[in-house]
Amino acid sequence: MTAMTPAGTAPDTISIDKAVKIYGSGPGQHVALNGVDVTIERGQFVSIIGPSGCGKSTLLRLIAGLEVADAGDVSVFGVSPEKACAAKMIGLVPQTPALLPWLTVLKNVSLPARINTGADRRRQRIGGHVGKNAPDMRDLLTKAGLGDALDKLPAQLSGGMQQRTAIVRAFGVQPDVLLMDEPFSALDEFTRESIQGQLLDIWDQMNTTVVFVTHSVTEAVRLSDKVLVMSAGPGRITASVDITLDRPRSEAMLKTAEFHHFEDVIRDHLQSAWRNGPLSSAA
Ligand SMILES: Nc1ncnc2c1ncn2[C@@H]1O[C@H](COP(=O)(O)OP(=O)(O)O)[C@@H](O)[C@H]1O
Ligand SMILES: [Mg+2]
Repeated sequence: MTAMTPAGTAPDTISIDKAVKIYGSGPGQHVALNGVDVTIERGQFVSIIGPSGCGKSTLLRLIAGLEVADAGDVSVFGVSPEKACAAKMIGLVPQTPALLPWLTVLKNVSLPARINTGADRRRQRIGGHVGKNAPDMRDLLTKAGLGDALDKLPAQLSGGMQQRTAIVRAFGVQPDVLLMDEPFSALDEFTRESIQGQLLDIWDQMNTTVVFVTHSVTEAVRLSDKVLVMSAGPGRITASVDITLDRPRSEAMLKTAEFHHFEDVIRDHLQSAWRNGPLSSAA
């Protein structure tokens, strides 16, 4: 047994230090991540962007404690990912919403808080932030544009509405960190833009740390305090860009020169990562 970190003394960052992740062994082995360093401050919204297969999901899975690094260290607000996970400090929004089909929207989002009561004590002991007041799920659903859908079943919702329900459900347990793996990739562009605004409203209210994987440069710039650019072969972080645009970030801001400037910076980083990666010769 390792000693408990006393509540309140946990470093307020998610830190990944020289992380290496190798899948398989022998000649077929694949180095998915090689020497990845990341620091994320509490409350930040950080996006990870990079080509398919560069290790974005692997990186999220290391933070979530679903994979273990072969070398290097991962710590989530002062504790190991496994411990953070057991204490329900970590929430995960997958690419597909995975709602329970027989429960209404309101019941789907209320369920986790009701079955996770034991985790709160574990979380407090290791220095996780346990919200004093559970959020009002009706209020969060309304913020997400689902005020009229509280009593609907998932099958009665559009794809965008289902994904918004999954997001509200994840925020509802007030995780210290919410990991989102391309949650909007199946949605059309218009739905995406409005759902981004709703996500930002909820994030603003909940003060959750978010690590968000996306393929979209525009999405990364709009949502984030910081964008980490990854390249493949093996996966590593090639740039970290602070997005210093004011908040709130309205849809109107997407058309400004300042916004385009950040998009250009990230596209340039992505292109040079692409040129230097092994995929360029394999394509
Ligand atoms: N469980 C696994 N076993 C073997 N290889 C894997 C496994 N998971 C991912 N990989 C490989 O590791 C690399 C990174 O994968 P992943 O993290 O899913 O990338 P991304 O999310 O950026 O598309 C890819 O080449 C992928 O094929
Ligand atoms: Mg992925």
